[in-house]
Amino acid sequence: MDCVLRESALQIRLEQPGDVEAITHLNQLAFGRLDEAFLIAHLREHAQPFVSLVAENEDGQIVGHILFTPATIHMPTEDVQGMGLAPMAVHPDFQFQGIGTNLLKAGINHMADMQIPYVIVLGHVDYYPRFGFVPASLRNIRCQWVGIPDEAFMILVLDPIAMQNVSGTAYYHPVFEEVM
Ligand SMILES: CC(C)(COP(=O)(O)OP(=O)(O)OC[C@H]1O[C@@H](n2cnc3c(N)ncnc32)[C@H](O)[C@@H]1OP(=O)(O)O)[C@@H](O)C(=O)NCCC(=O)NCCS
Repeated sequence: MDCVLRESALQIRLEQPGDVEAITHLNQLAFGRLDEAFLIAHLREHAQPFVSLVAENEDGQIVGHILFTPATIHMPTEDVQGMGLAPMAVHPDFQFQGIGTNLLKAGINHMADMQIPYVIVLGHVDYYPRFGFVPASLRNIRCQWVGIPDEAFMILVLDPIAMQNVSGTAYYHPVFEEVM
């Protein structure tokens, strides 16, 4: 199989009902287990907004997927709503060709269009900073889970004014706690 991707042939679009099976399969392949696919299925049922983008190649194959669901930063006086990025996956045959980059850029633009003030992510420390993510600890924002390496829990601030005095503990959608 020729797995070299021509970038112009890649379409990034919102998930459609007919994509569900392909998204499940893709995540299972990329992570080598079913946990993330199971998580996505539960989030699809319970999380709103559920912003799921796919990358489709010219053969109509879904080769990448990224998901954003609601996140909350708890402060003493208020909760600040944003979005959590998780999971994201690129088909193993198509990794290192820029698909993840395209998905992330499209996802971030989508979040900005939705006027989401921030996006949190727990992930590869060498990958997400190139898109503007910084360690959340720099803003005194902590992860809900203990034992996470400080630099692996990151935040992308899209609305600096809204986020000016925001600090506290950040939570993914409750489904993460139930399923993972
Ligand atoms: C991480 C992932 C989504 C990246 O997608 P991709 O399409 O391969 O990435 P791109 O081609 O856009 O970018 C390639 C860059 O990402 C980096 N990268 C890829 N996988 C990485 C990983 N596991 N850890 C750190 N960096 C990684 C590469 O080093 C490369 O860096 P370079 O541009 O400096 O050479 C993909 O490798 C994947 O699906 N991995 C398995 C599932 C996973 O780990 N998901 C992320 C959970 S946080």
